[in-house]
Amino acid sequence: MSDPARLRVLVTRRTFDDVLGDLRRRFDVDDNQGDQPLSPDELASRAAGCDGIITAVADPVTPALLDACPKLRVVANCAVGTNNVDIPACTERGVMVTNTPGVLDDTTADHAWALMFAAARRVVSSDRWLRDGHWRAWGFMDWHGVDVHHATLGIIGMGRIGQAIARRAAGFDMRVIYHNRKPLPDDRALACGAAYAGFDELLSTADFVVVSVPYGPATHHLIGARELALLKPTAVFVNVARGGVVDDAALVEVLAGGRIAAAGLDVFENEPSLHPGYVGLENAVLTPHIASASRATRLGMAELAARNLVAALEGSRPPSLVNPEVVPRPV
Ligand code: DGY
Repeated sequence: MSDPARLRVLVTRRTFDDVLGDLRRRFDVDDNQGDQPLSPDELASRAAGCDGIITAVADPVTPALLDACPKLRVVANCAVGTNNVDIPACTERGVMVTNTPGVLDDTTADHAWALMFAAARRVVSSDRWLRDGHWRAWGFMDWHGVDVHHATLGIIGMGRIGQAIARRAAGFDMRVIYHNRKPLPDDRALACGAAYAGFDELLSTADFVVVSVPYGPATHHLIGARELALLKPTAVFVNVARGGVVDDAALVEVLAGGRIAAAGLDVFENEPSLHPGYVGLENAVLTPHIASASRATRLGMAELAARNLVAALEGSRPPSLVNPEVVPRPV
């Protein structure tokens, strides 16, 4: 039986018991243990009387949802990306928006490297071939891949995650170039061992191109047919940013035609649907948006989302407020 004096919170996806337990001690909590994303109608009806919601990347926070939630004070997105949240609409209605920066940088950077290696050294396709019983004899001329060491790594988007990806390159004696809206201050670039390059220059000179930019109107199809045509025929392309940053149809065409060596992709347009062209491609390594999915990091994200929500509902400034210009709704 819910206590009308307590603030109400919805947690839209399954999370860690300790995090949920702590929230239950403070608030009346409704949570989606079923773990399938809630439909827009169900999300609106369950969020309707809530003061705060903890959302995930697949929950669209739209003006219609916000209008169904007249008491809502905070949307605590359990992700660093906030492209699922209409931030201006939240700000207009006095709703604070928070995200989870910092806690997932290293884990996401590790995964970018996992994709680089897996794609370059054909780890997944050779594993599949082996399991399928095709191995008859060791082959000197079989399964040639692309060297990672001493290659040029090009990073598009040099935020915290891009920088963490760059720092790892020193161990493989790589040259690192990056492209960003603004060049990094010199000391930061030096710490990453990275040199600034123009966008087209990076695409045409890097052996490994890794994309790590936020998604929004300015980065929609940042990588399309024109950009892919600039890549070297031996290039390995990696996306750990967001679906929509890359034009999947164009990338499928390039991979199917063997016009680059390989790709490692964690994110896709229209997730969880996959462009059907990817399925049969031997030169694409695909993971289901798991770059931040180590247990420790997902726990860190859940804890930070909860800290943001608690701060917002208990009257202090959330540690990672995305819309600091907001004038919060009164309690
Ligand atoms: C994020 O945090 O934005 C990731 O894509 C999900 O972990």
